[in-house]
Amino acid sequence: MKNNIPWWQSGIIYQIYPRSFQDSNNDGVGDLNGIRRRLDYLQSLGIQAIWLSPIYPSPMHDFGYDVADYTAVHPMFGSMSDFDALLDEVHARGLKLILDLVPNHTSDEHPWFGESRSSHDNPKRDWYIWADPAPDGGPPNNWLSYFGGPAWTFDETTGQYYLHQFVKQQPELNYRHPAVLPAMLDNMRFWLEKGVGGFRVDVIWLMMKDELLRDEPPNPMWDGVDPHASLNHIYTQSVPGIHELIRHMRAVVDEFDDRVMIGEIYLPLEELVAYYGRSLGECHLPANFHLILNKQWEATAVRQLVERYEGVLPDGAWPNWVLGNHDQHRVATRLGQAQARIANMLLLTLRGTPTTYFGEEIGMENGRIPPEYVQDPPAVNQPHIAHIIGRDPQRTPMQWDDSAHAGFTAADVQPWLPVANNYRSLNVAQQEAEPASMLSLYRALVKLRQAEPALHVGNYVTIETAVSDIFAYQRTAPDADPFLILLNFGGEAHTLDLSHLADTARIALASDRQRSGPVDLTALTIGPDEGLVLRL
Ligand code: GLC
Repeated sequence: MKNNIPWWQSGIIYQIYPRSFQDSNNDGVGDLNGIRRRLDYLQSLGIQAIWLSPIYPSPMHDFGYDVADYTAVHPMFGSMSDFDALLDEVHARGLKLILDLVPNHTSDEHPWFGESRSSHDNPKRDWYIWADPAPDGGPPNNWLSYFGGPAWTFDETTGQYYLHQFVKQQPELNYRHPAVLPAMLDNMRFWLEKGVGGFRVDVIWLMMKDELLRDEPPNPMWDGVDPHASLNHIYTQSVPGIHELIRHMRAVVDEFDDRVMIGEIYLPLEELVAYYGRSLGECHLPANFHLILNKQWEATAVRQLVERYEGVLPDGAWPNWVLGNHDQHRVATRLGQAQARIANMLLLTLRGTPTTYFGEEIGMENGRIPPEYVQDPPAVNQPHIAHIIGRDPQRTPMQWDDSAHAGFTAADVQPWLPVANNYRSLNVAQQEAEPASMLSLYRALVKLRQAEPALHVGNYVTIETAVSDIFAYQRTAPDADPFLILLNFGGEAHTLDLSHLADTARIALASDRQRSGPVDLTALTIGPDEGLVLRL
């Protein structure tokens, strides 16, 4: 708690994809000791919490999102004592560690599934979702996998199909069976007792499915690209019973002091906010991906998005914003470097908890993945749309310096994914030394945000400017300096008269890191792709 504000509201969350952050034992894959080695860096960013993508034992068919044991650490990432050492050191620095919980499905190598698939009368049979073949022998219904093909795989042993909305090695648990949820809640307690700060819960909105396994209707809005989007997922997403399930998960998180539950949820804003739950008893933070989903990077569209979100948030709900993650093309690739700076300024000055995906603080771009390296299942299964849905490009190793493999692993080791080829000019070491770099900008933004109540807890108000390329808003808090944020989403300069807002203002932070001092609000010029944070 900082001034009675929970850490997950006042602080910044930083997502690490452990395979790609820092290799410490030279096997080409990042690990826990690597993360521990980089804690000085993480702390220097000013972030509050580190969220780790899954570190559990896994055959890695979906790079750890196929969990074979929920209460252990994959030897590739280290040992349980490495984990404990990391957690201790994270805590010693006043930071939190959030784990990824993957409750919707297990690995097919999880012992539960081994039992379940062994026979019809095994006590764990109905821990997973099994169904008879259709009359023609095909899958029980038309449900599709996110990663291509049907969401069902036939199992010879018992002559039934099991459900998996991701790879076939990710069978889905059946939360209608009374023993499944308690078993998963125990897994949560295991880590909460160790002291983790909470969980980011994988695909939380998919955890219940239609009991009757009805066919999903076609999606009339389908753009013809990703086959999974050709159906309207009314029987696999937000299915009745989901909110009750999440309340139980939240109750376990609340058995411990000061923990957080973040839900991974891809839904329209109005539906997303239902996941705060009645009396806010579900996710503390239903992850808001709309800065990614909204394809128009344009001041008016982003302003409308912010206003819509602010407008639909239930009473007492704390907002949050995300620019990228391991499933989405990198923000600097989506928007270009100049606007990626604006995106970071937006993220770190909006109301709500910001989440940064590793590398966004230096403007890392998608890597180019040679065909022989492509390994993400949706890309492997659907090569013709791999450039759109493949996730390897945003998972390339962290770019630390200009040495071999960008300092991620030893020179003579082949990293699991190649380092992006711009690493010699785009890396942490080079940006540390540059006052105008993205990294310097990021740190300055975080520092300002964390020092100023208006920025980390204050209100949000849109400011009209009459210039369609400029998104302007004010952040205010009682007894604290107000701030005016001006973001130019376009490539042209504009001069604004904002004298109705205040007599004087000073630049607290400018995206070019050069401008400072007082400004004239009657004729304030904002340059191309420029962002300004003004103290009023
Ligand atoms: C989530 C994860 C993604 C994973 C999927 C299945 O969307 O973020 O990486 O492939 O769930 O677990």
